[in-house]
Amino acid sequence: MLKDKFGRVIRDLRLSITDRCNFRCGYCMPAGFVPKAHRDILTFEEMARIVTVLAGEGVEKVRVTGGEPLLRRNVEGLVRILRAIPGIRDIALTSNGWFLGEHVDALKAAGVDRLNVSLDSLRRDRFKELTGVDALDRVLQSLETASAAGFFPVKVNCVVMRGENDDEVLDFAAFARRTGHSVRFIEFMPLDSGHAWDRSRMVAGREIVEAIDARYPLTAVRGNPSETALRYTFADNAAEIGVIAPVTRPFCGACNRLRITADGKVRNCLFSLAEHDLMTPLRNGASDDDLREVLRLAVLEKEAGHRINEPDFQQPLRTMSCIGG
Ligand code: 5AD
Ligand code: SF4
Repeated sequence: MLKDKFGRVIRDLRLSITDRCNFRCGYCMPAGFVPKAHRDILTFEEMARIVTVLAGEGVEKVRVTGGEPLLRRNVEGLVRILRAIPGIRDIALTSNGWFLGEHVDALKAAGVDRLNVSLDSLRRDRFKELTGVDALDRVLQSLETASAAGFFPVKVNCVVMRGENDDEVLDFAAFARRTGHSVRFIEFMPLDSGHAWDRSRMVAGREIVEAIDARYPLTAVRGNPSETALRYTFADNAAEIGVIAPVTRPFCGACNRLRITADGKVRNCLFSLAEHDLMTPLRNGASDDDLREVLRLAVLEKEAGHRINEPDFQQPLRTMSCIGG
């Protein structure tokens, strides 16, 4: 088992399969971003080796992410490989929704269990402003197609930013009620590319819940402790929403996650300042034991929690597009 020095056991892997994205969300893609050359990105075979070692150590869930994972060719093939690894029992994929419609059937057939789609505005103009692409209709269409293919509900990730989209919280709640998709309101975290985060631009989870509850009364749903979201259902409606409050209500104490970046580095936290290299040993003929040792060390160094709320907090150099959400 991969246990850290605080007794937390790693069960959940976030696997970033590309640092590229066809969108340009301001908080994610650094201005002037230059993607890594293809040879500096893990191959699917290399990923499979890492995941096999991790599964042997008790990892059960894999979230395939990016960048935009569907920019890689044959993601379905990767999913089939992951599905066949003994011990892996849950595969999720996070996407911006652009290429999703044309892939959902194949992804379902390959064995994806759950989908997350990022969506920060339901207004066409604003969506374009936030992402750089006039794609709202296409993303909404992908959600419909995904539902029809049996991915229902989809988790819709909405990062709430003061002065940018916080006036849409009730619209997103209505969207969840209308479509049945599970909107997850996420507190804006200091991972933004321009290092422009400050607390005043974040909307606290509690404020979001209160605003929604005042309009559409909510009932809290009991979840399990390693879950990132506080979940609620509408008192008069089956749909569920979630609030993810990493800043004001950190869930690090129950964190069971580990991350692999597209260029083959292990990160034990979104906010870790250090990484452990797997790519070099992989390409130099390392044995499974060697890889396991790198992973063990990375897990041992996992900090008790992020330090966003500490005066000496240091933002990691990498942004979400590289780390993988
Ligand atoms: N704060 C909060 N959420 C973020 N995401 C990316 N960057 C940030 C940030 N700074 C979200 C994306 C995506 C998920 C993987 O992470 O919106 O849905
Ligand atoms: Fe792409 Fe997602 Fe980052 Fe937006 S948040 S730029 S969709 S990886």
